[in-house]
Amino acid sequence: MEPLKNGKDGAPARKVHIKTYGCQMNVYDSERMEALLRPIGYAPTAEPEDADLVILNTCHIREKAAEKVYSELGRLRRVKEARGGRGANRMMLGVAGCVAQAEGAEIAARAPFVDLVFGPQTFHRLPEMIARAHREDGLVLETEFEADAKFDALSEMTLEAPKESPGGGAVTAFLTIQEGCDKFCTFCVVPYTRGAETSRPARQIEAEARKLAAAGVRELTLLGQNVNAYADPEGGATGLGGLLRRLALIDGLERLRFTTSHPRDMDDDLIAAFADEPKLMPYLHLPVQSGSDRMLKAMNRGHDASSYVALVERVRRARPDLALSGDFIVGFPGETEADFEATLELVRNVEYASSFSFKYSPRPGTPAAALQQVDEEAKAERLAKLQELLGRQKDDFNAGQVGRVAPVLFEGPGRQAGQLIGRSPYLQSVHVEAPAHRVGRIAPVRILSAGPNSLAGELADQGAAA
Ligand code: 5AD
Ligand code: SF4
Repeated sequence: MEPLKNGKDGAPARKVHIKTYGCQMNVYDSERMEALLRPIGYAPTAEPEDADLVILNTCHIREKAAEKVYSELGRLRRVKEARGGRGANRMMLGVAGCVAQAEGAEIAARAPFVDLVFGPQTFHRLPEMIARAHREDGLVLETEFEADAKFDALSEMTLEAPKESPGGGAVTAFLTIQEGCDKFCTFCVVPYTRGAETSRPARQIEAEARKLAAAGVRELTLLGQNVNAYADPEGGATGLGGLLRRLALIDGLERLRFTTSHPRDMDDDLIAAFADEPKLMPYLHLPVQSGSDRMLKAMNRGHDASSYVALVERVRRARPDLALSGDFIVGFPGETEADFEATLELVRNVEYASSFSFKYSPRPGTPAAALQQVDEEAKAERLAKLQELLGRQKDDFNAGQVGRVAPVLFEGPGRQAGQLIGRSPYLQSVHVEAPAHRVGRIAPVRILSAGPNSLAGELADQGAAA
């Protein structure tokens, strides 16, 4: 399409506001959408009221997440109407992400003032979709699955530092290496909204990682719905372990992480990488969902409680200081008090440094939605009990850091003047009094105290204040 004309001072002629819901992959996708729109004249704005194009990048995982989209669209409708303008001059509204993928037709019916509806695997064609919407004045709806074409398009993009921070470019970044899921857990919409498991060529991933490192990124989190099912389609790197070792060779990248993994896809090489690749951080997000074998079977997880516990032990033998994180669902259809007790038992055995836990939410089109549901009261009670236990484990893990010296990667200014905020290897936020030039660098920090959401410490290297 024709690029939009720039304003008199050379500034881009139009503004885009992207609001992101849900997972880290949506955060990555939104950043890439902004980067795609820049060359055709759209600059990002924090205010939807100022924007010529507003995109909601949505999440369908639970009912609450999906419903938020419709209430936000109601609000944006009023903004759009107040602005007036017709045809190519109208304010454009777009719905992207998993709600767009799953409910395209429903959005068109419930929110006919929306201009663009596009799924997670078509956003690379956004410039062409906008041009069409300008020409045709009607809804443009694109929800094909075309992960490979998207990966190719992403790889051709020019990347600036992902986000501006006073220390220069961003210090940490996400990088999508895999998309989709073939596991079909009976509660989950992801296999329907993100499509089949597709891995991105290692060659492309390495090139993007190099661009990010050159822009100042020091820590990369590799993303995928089932990231440890990674298999290089070109055969250049075997599995996720091989890919991590390849990326660890890039100068400037100091830390590697990945999320989200499935217990069935933790292979020996990946476990070995925790032992022998120092750039791979000692943190593993490994969802289990339930500790009851009966529930795990009904969920179609493909593992039982004891095989999960044995797997955790293997990873901990490779990396004894591993911080483990997990996802849990309470009140899955048919869950009894005894099943729930088995979940508490598993949590007591495993001990989690952090966690995400949810009440089961029936999702349209998934097998479990049709089953007899657990009542809301029991779900709420179980969730509160589980969260209390997980909260205590988190507090214990954080308190266990007090008195230790941890390498902290500084990411930017802290809440108070003279402070920086950084991350420990275990993904804890750490507040430290330190000069701004430390941003982007790793320094030893003595941990002095632990709060519920962050740690506080002091520089522990020579010439600490310098
Ligand atoms: N209800 C509640 N939680 C869900 N999750 C996925 N689907 C549902 C659902 N229908 C949770 C799982 C998953 C995380 C991303 O969201 O715990 O690991
Ligand atoms: Fe959903 Fe299960 Fe796939 Fe995770 S592994 S994305 S929970 S279907």
